[in-house]
Amino acid sequence: MAEEMRIVLRNLDKIDPLKIDDYLAVGGYKSLQKARTMSRLEVIEEVKKSGLRGRGGAGFNCGMKWSFSYNIDSDQKYVVCNADEGEPGTYKDRIIMENDPQTLLEGMAICGYAIGSNKGYIYCRGEYPYVVEILNQAIAQAKGKGVLGDFDIEVRMGAGAYVCGEESALIESIEGHRGEPRFKPPFPPVEGLWGKPTIVNNVETFANIPVILEKGGDWYKGIGAASYPGTKVLTLTGDVVNRTFVEVPTNTTIREVIYGFGGGIIGGKNFKAVQIGGTSGGFIPEAFLDTPIDFDSMTAIGAVLGSGAVFVMDETRDIVDVVERIAKFFEHESCGKCTPCREGTKRMHEMMHNVNSGTARAGDLDLMEKLGGVMGVACLCGLGQAAPAPVLTTLKHFRTDYAAKFN
Ligand code: NAI
Repeated sequence: MAEEMRIVLRNLDKIDPLKIDDYLAVGGYKSLQKARTMSRLEVIEEVKKSGLRGRGGAGFNCGMKWSFSYNIDSDQKYVVCNADEGEPGTYKDRIIMENDPQTLLEGMAICGYAIGSNKGYIYCRGEYPYVVEILNQAIAQAKGKGVLGDFDIEVRMGAGAYVCGEESALIESIEGHRGEPRFKPPFPPVEGLWGKPTIVNNVETFANIPVILEKGGDWYKGIGAASYPGTKVLTLTGDVVNRTFVEVPTNTTIREVIYGFGGGIIGGKNFKAVQIGGTSGGFIPEAFLDTPIDFDSMTAIGAVLGSGAVFVMDETRDIVDVVERIAKFFEHESCGKCTPCREGTKRMHEMMHNVNSGTARAGDLDLMEKLGGVMGVACLCGLGQAAPAPVLTTLKHFRTDYAAKFN
């Protein structure tokens, strides 16, 4: 039986999140102090050594990202925490922020020191107003104790747009503009907030940093899968007995997550599918349940680890109906800036609706596959590129469910 391992959730239920003294008593801010005794480059090298990759969904090497900003001479640089946790079924960042806000602030301050930035922003989703309160209190306490030094952190609130979780749309939103993605390159580490070098990392990514500094990159590298070391916080939803969250080493398999921590399928029913990574994740059939949940293994089976939402479906679920709802979600959330996404999500939803209601034309399934392929390469940002994944993976693994709608 796989075991839970808590790195980012190490202080859960052990400290009062609204008391900085509790955090200090368990060694809080020692890693920031340690970082300040090292050179900025040494800090980045330690993070690189750990192999930590982005926990927001794209899995980019964290130390490498930091080095891009470090290498640029600029009068101002920014550290931005992406806390716009909008992926349906995902609530890992909320758990971290609610239970241990100081660890996030410490991780951001270490990043600020490493790249040479004195200003950080936390962009928190608008649906989490109480989390914003917690963060503001935590920041006030940290400033009161003087632990952040000259590093300042401000909280900005989203207003419910899913696309603002995309880093450049998030940056536009902080700048006070409509939340729409930018063309990349230039990437934010080079030209981000107000045109300045900006590191955008997810809450979970920053929460790993103090522990990496404390225990060392080599220690971290030895945990979980070699190509995606460390742990991942997963949130289990759907037809699973324990709708809960777990933090596990990244070499844990999907089966261990669902049948071990999740306790299996509700009512003793059979498993049908699991979607990992929120709405933009692929659907995974039973045959792949022994895949480890690390980034590359998930990509290899045509799925994504994404933000780590684990949505379990039992044998009674109508896959085509589920995917139609997801297609509707993407049509609604597309910002409309680029044509492949604006039109693609609309047409995809239209065709999914037709299939689901038994009014599709022969050839529509092929057309959906073709459209999905185009969107994957032609859409401006990750929202449109990932939107067809549920359609494409279910057409691949659950084609008979689609065929049944034509009878
Ligand atoms: P990306 O791979 O383009 O970038 C990841 C990060 O690395 C960004 O911060 C980016 O600025 C940085 N980066 C990449 N190349 C760089 C370069 N040459 N120089 C400097 N910095 C560079 O991915 P992005 O746009 O952040 O996310 C899109 C992908 O991530 C989608 O394909 C999607 O599958 C996945 N994703 C999935 C999520 C989920 O929960 N399902 C959530 C978020 C992303």
